[in-house]
Amino acid sequence: MANFEPAGGPAVHSLDHFCLSVPDLDVARTFYTEFGLDVRDVAGGLELYTFGNPHRWAVIRPGARKKLEYVSFGAFAGDIERFREKFANLGVEIIDTPAISEAGGIWFRNPDGMPMQLVEAEKCSPDTKTQFLTTSVGPGECAAIPRSKAPLVRPRRLSHFLIFTSDVLRDIAFYEKVLGLKLSDRSADAVAFMHGVYGSDHHMLALAGSTGPGMHHSSWDVGTIQEVGIGGSHMASLGFDKGWGLGQHVLGANYFHYVPDPWGSYAEYSCDIDYIPAGHDWPAGDHPVEDSLYLWGPPLPENFITNFELQDA
Ligand SMILES: [Fe+2]
Repeated sequence: MANFEPAGGPAVHSLDHFCLSVPDLDVARTFYTEFGLDVRDVAGGLELYTFGNPHRWAVIRPGARKKLEYVSFGAFAGDIERFREKFANLGVEIIDTPAISEAGGIWFRNPDGMPMQLVEAEKCSPDTKTQFLTTSVGPGECAAIPRSKAPLVRPRRLSHFLIFTSDVLRDIAFYEKVLGLKLSDRSADAVAFMHGVYGSDHHMLALAGSTGPGMHHSSWDVGTIQEVGIGGSHMASLGFDKGWGLGQHVLGANYFHYVPDPWGSYAEYSCDIDYIPAGHDWPAGDHPVEDSLYLWGPPLPENFITNFELQDA
C-alpha cells in the first residue's frame, strides 16, 4: 500500500503490461530481441522483459493479424475491492476474462470496447525520476568508441504506452474517473498524456485520436541520449529505418527515437522523461498541436499517427 491517499477513490499505480497478438512470433522475437529486450518463449507465445528487471512488461500471442488485445493496470492489494465497488457505482461492467489472457484481476472494457485488466501488482512505475546519464572526458582524453564496438542497448523498463482512441476527450474523462489517472497535458482533442497519482513518468498512458482502438507505440526507458541514438541506428541497420528520431518531445520533454515495428506501429527509445511525484499537482495544459509535439528533430514521417490496426481489420 502507498502512504498517500488520492482524492477521488482508488487509483491505479502502474501500467502493468500490454498484450499484442501478431501473425508471426519469430518476427516478433527477432524485432524485440534486436531492440534490446529480454524476450522469453513461454507456453502460448512470448513475454517481454528488460534485462535486470523482474517485471513482465508485455505478452505476445499468435494471431491472424497484429492487434492490441488488452492493456493491464496495476493496483495496490487493498484497492482491488474498492475498485469493484467503484466500478459498480459508476456502472462499469465487469466482463469475463478474455480467452487470450490468464485468469485474474478485474476485466472491463474501455469506451472503444477494448478489454482492460485491473490487477493487484507490485508498483512498476518509477518512484522517482529515473537516472539520466551524460558522460564526457577531459582535455587530452579520448571518448571515441569505434562503431564496431558500439555498446548493446538494454532498455531499463517500459516507460509508457500510447493507444489510439475514437475520442480523446471522452477517454481522458474515462481514465480519470474509472482508473484514477490524471491528465498531464494534451493538445486539443488530438493527443493526451496521463500519469499515475502515486508517482509516474509524465505519462504512463497516452491517447491519440483515431476512429478506433489500436496500439501506436510502446516506449522503453534508456539512460542516455547515446543509447537512444545507438539503438535507433542499430535497428535502422536491420531495415527498421522508417522511424522518427533523434529528437526531443515538448510534452514529457523526453529524447526519443521511434523504431517502426513489423506491423505498422512503433517501439520508442526514450530517455529523461519528466517525472510527476506522488500527489504532485501538475498543471495540465492544453497546448497547440504545432507547438507541442517536438522541440527539435527530423520532420514528422508521413503516416506517423495512422492506426494501421483498423486498416488491417
Ligand atoms: Fe512516447
